[in-house]
Amino acid sequence: MTAFSWLPPRVSKGPRARRFHAARLAAFLSAAALFSVLAGHSQDKPPAQAPAQNQPPAQAQAAAPAENKPAEYVGSDTCQGCHEDIFKAFEKNPHHLVETSKKYKFDTKACESCHGPGSKHAESMSAADIQNPAKLKPDQTDRICLKCHLNQPTHVGRINSSHAKNEVSCVACHSIHKNGPEGLVPRTMAATNQLCAGCHTDIWASFQQPFRHRLPEGAMSCVDCHNPHGSFLPRAMQTAFRGNEPGCLKCHGNLAGPFTFEHAPVRLDGCTACHMPHGSTNPRMLTRQQVRFVCLECHSNLPVPNPAPNSPLGGVPPAFHDIRSPRFQNCTLCHQKVHGSYVDRGLLR
Ligand code: HEC
Ligand code: HEC
Ligand code: HEC
Ligand code: HEC
Ligand code: HEC
Ligand code: HEC
Ligand code: HEC
Ligand code: HEC
Ligand code: HEC
Ligand code: HEC
Repeated sequence: MTAFSWLPPRVSKGPRARRFHAARLAAFLSAAALFSVLAGHSQDKPPAQAPAQNQPPAQAQAAAPAENKPAEYVGSDTCQGCHEDIFKAFEKNPHHLVETSKKYKFDTKACESCHGPGSKHAESMSAADIQNPAKLKPDQTDRICLKCHLNQPTHVGRINSSHAKNEVSCVACHSIHKNGPEGLVPRTMAATNQLCAGCHTDIWASFQQPFRHRLPEGAMSCVDCHNPHGSFLPRAMQTAFRGNEPGCLKCHGNLAGPFTFEHAPVRLDGCTACHMPHGSTNPRMLTRQQVRFVCLECHSNLPVPNPAPNSPLGGVPPAFHDIRSPRFQNCTLCHQKVHGSYVDRGLLR
């Protein structure tokens, strides 16, 4: 339980008038008693708490130092007394495993695995006395969740992800108490896209262009290309194959190579050297309206000296390429294997 020592100290709002509903009080007291038995507390504990219920406000001042005592765990049953709806719904939550399994060390007190020890709040009913992950600073929220989720493979890049750095916390995308198919985790492509589009409106707008992957139809989602939890690649790109190749190749595996004759930019600059990943007004989602302008960006037809070896720019097409002639304008008519060739250095076949 000392694992919570990193949590920020709670600032108490001080004593409050306490008007317990009789039933709730009973529920609380019995649960508190049960807890103290379970936790093996010394006998004098419950009596010490009991008078506190009847304290007039004036005496509460005197009890102030006692309020600085850190709150203690009281167990989920206590929470149920006042939060019946949430408690019931929680039985269908994946996190109910925390309640029933000893593995996570919060059995019978799962509520407090995220909300912190609740004895003070159960007594005061004050929001100030309970931790609400949605109201904490995002990095503090993340730490609560990562206590259990850090070693999951999809979370490796989380700490350095742009979402973490830009303070988009776990609970911005995961609503803990919203059970149901689209509650805790978006389960369909359409739901995922809707979640991402909610903040990335500009990118969603790109997908309304004529040439793009079929996200608006719900046939693919942002998560096919990006890991929402971050990754080792820039822009949180998903990885494929050996774990260091961009996720495009997960689906376009025929372009993965290794080719005998590579086209340098495919490997060095990546697919985005020539394609707009979020869609384009150009066929094949190319960066330019016509293929030749994509090529000529690097293979200048100006009579300049050939670039130095390993330059990102390609060589000048041989002189017989008469760019003014329509015959030579459609580069990929001849250079068909523009992503790499197994047989031809000139990428002709
Ligand atoms: C005796 C009744 C009572 C018990 C027991 C109780 N709560 Fe509450 N809880 C309340 C009330 C009343 C509020 C609303 C407080 C407010 O809005 O100021 C509340 C609010 C909350 C909130 C929202 C705080 C916020 O920032 O808005 C959380 C989280 C919470 N309770 C969790 C728990 C947990 C976890 C337990 C068990 C450890 C628990 N409660 C036990 C009465 C109780
Ligand atoms: C996995 C973490 C986690 C667990 C376990 C958990 N909660 Fe919460 N709880 C949250 C978060 C996060 C919020 C903030 C609202 C949200 O994002 O859903 C919240 C909000 C609340 C609120 C405020 C009301 C609201 O809907 O905003 C109450 C009350 C509450 N929880 C009670 C409980 C009780 C009772 C339990 C146990 C049955 C419990 N919580 C278990 C994470 C958790
Ligand atoms: C005490 C440990 C613990 C804490 C703290 C915790 N979780 Fe979980 N979480 C679990 C367990 C256990 C599961 C169920 C995993 C399973 O079913 O295999 C789970 C499941 C989930 C799932 C659903 C996974 C799925 O595929 O359905 C999400 C999303 C999730 N947690 C997010 C969060 C967030 C966000 C927080 C912080 C507010 C959080 N968790 C805090 C232990 C924890
Ligand atoms: C930008 C939105 C976003 C943020 C921030 C985010 N998640 Fe997720 N999370 C998702 C989406 C979307 C999925 C579903 C992934 C899929 O469909 O493959 C998911 C899936 C999960 C799962 C299910 C199993 C898995 O790993 O795929 C868990 C557990 C989880 N998230 C926990 C967390 C935790 C813990 C945090 C904070 C450290 C967090 N998430 C932050 C969007 C987010
Ligand atoms: C709560 C708002 C919010 C949601 C929801 C959200 N994002 Fe973000 N995202 C941001 C912010 C803020 C940034 C950082 C600024 C930027 O690059 O736009 C960001 C950045 C990114 C980046 C750039 C990462 C980098 O390293 O440059 C990617 C990729 C991304 N988000 C993908 C997603 C995906 C996929 C989803 C849905 C699963 C999603 N986002 C949901 C707010 C959000
Ligand atoms: C086909 C794969 C693919 C899909 C689907 C995809 N992205 Fe991207 N996204 C990329 C690539 C590749 C980059 C890197 C672009 C670059 O480096 O110039 C990127 C960059 C980004 C960035 C960073 C900066 C920017 O504005 O370019 C954000 C934010 C982002 N994507 C969000 C999203 C969201 C939100 C969705 C879903 C609506 C989405 N992406 C769908 C491949 C994809
Ligand atoms: C989840 C699988 C998937 C991923 C990941 C993926 N694609 Fe695609 N891509 C497709 C499918 C399916 C098509 C067929 C066209 C359609 O969806 O209508 C396609 C088509 C294309 C096209 C041709 C469009 C046309 O007009 O013929 C290009 C170019 C393309 N993808 C580039 C990329 C790039 C670049 C990436 C990575 C940033 C990527 N794809 C990631 C599935 C994927
Ligand atoms: C040097 C520029 C360039 C790069 C880099 C590039 N492409 Fe292409 N790609 C093209 C051109 C040009 C076409 C159109 C070919 C045509 O018109 O026949 C194309 C067509 C495609 C097509 C549709 C037709 C086909 O051949 O299947 C897909 C899918 C595709 N590219 C995916 C990718 C992926 C994935 C990557 C990254 C691994 C990538 N491209 C990198 C220039 C490029
Ligand atoms: C982002 C820059 C870039 C773009 C765009 C580009 N290339 Fe290249 N290309 C290169 C580089 C760099 C080389 C390698 C040059 C070298 O090794 O000397 C190369 C090599 C080639 C070669 C083989 C030449 C050789 O010396 O091995 C051909 C053929 C070629 N490109 C055709 C094209 C065509 C056709 C297009 C348009 C679809 C295109 N390139 C677009 C950068 C580019
Ligand atoms: C009519 C067919 C055809 C068209 C169209 C064509 N090329 Fe070529 N290209 C060739 C042939 C043949 C070679 C010589 C290949 C060799 O030497 O193996 C070549 C060579 C090249 C080379 C040098 C390759 C090397 O091995 O050094 C580059 C760069 C190049 N072309 C770029 C382009 C660009 C850019 C376009 C479009 C503006 C284009 N080509 C259009 C047929 C064509």
